Amino acid sequence: MSLRSASENPAATFEPTPDATPWAVKVDNLSVTYRTAVEKKPTLKQTLIRLGRRQRIIREIKAVRDVSFEIPHGTTIGVVGVNGAGKSTLLRTMAGILPPSQGRVEIFGRVSTLLALGVGFKGELTGQENVVLGGLAAGLTREQVAAKYEAIAEFAELGDFMEMPMRTYSSGMYGRLAFSVAINMDPDILMIDEALSTGDARFREKSFDKMRELTGKARTIVLVSHGLRSIRELCDEAIWMHEGRISMRDDADTVVDAYKEFLQLKREGSDDDI
Ligand SMILES: Nc1ncnc2c1ncn2[C@@H]1O[C@H](COP(=O)(O)OP(=O)(O)OP(=O)(O)O)[C@@H](O)[C@H]1O
Ligand SMILES: [Mg+2]
Repeated sequence: MSLRSASENPAATFEPTPDATPWAVKVDNLSVTYRTAVEKKPTLKQTLIRLGRRQRIIREIKAVRDVSFEIPHGTTIGVVGVNGAGKSTLLRTMAGILPPSQGRVEIFGRVSTLLALGVGFKGELTGQENVVLGGLAAGLTREQVAAKYEAIAEFAELGDFMEMPMRTYSSGMYGRLAFSVAINMDPDILMIDEALSTGDARFREKSFDKMRELTGKARTIVLVSHGLRSIRELCDEAIWMHEGRISMRDDADTVVDAYKEFLQLKREGSDDDI
């Protein structure tokens, strides 16, 4: 059994033990609070008294509030909710990148994550260097990295751009490489935040097919997305997050229907329109 709690090193790799428990992820009474120091806006009178010394206050944002759930092995679960609902925070905490403020996350299996753009790659390094260094940092041997590199570069279809610094990539190109790395790591558990939305239509379709292939391979997948069609078509179940809490968990169709009703979408038609 591999177990991760707040105190452990998030960069550590975890050996797969898929049969040890019925679930791949177990989240127990998890809360995540961000604390940000902000400048308190002084009144003129206060400024005169303090003569230029600024006062800082701590603003707390309770992004995830006492959330508990389990994800059985082999389940593809979607996470929906409005902007700021706490989806990315939940995913980052599940991935071990962000420590819980309270509660714990247990992971049973090897995790690969694809988080929102801007995480993981270094802009001054080329795509090739990022893939190699990332692979080695994830604990792969040089031979394993070399073997995976071919598959990653082929899927991303970036051609000569693999030898260019990643700061020269468009966001879609960046997203392609990130997606390609995540799916080629052969994880037991794949956590994806909004990955399907960055590429162009053809790459989105290719990614979608790849995701479907992975769901068929009994991988456990957590997919955060505003693409409700993806949630419906790829996921067995879905969680609807609202203001840091789970307001619903059910099969994907039921959750998407309820969420769409909540959003009071005026335009009729397919989920793809929204
Ligand atoms: N690094 C941070 N520091 C402080 N507050 C943060 C930070 N990241 C997120 N938050 C706050 O936490 C709350 C949840 O944010 P989160 O990014 O998890 O939402 P989300 O559901 O992923 O939204 P979106 O659909 O826009 O991606 C928001 O109120 C946000 O302002
Ligand atoms: Mg988010």
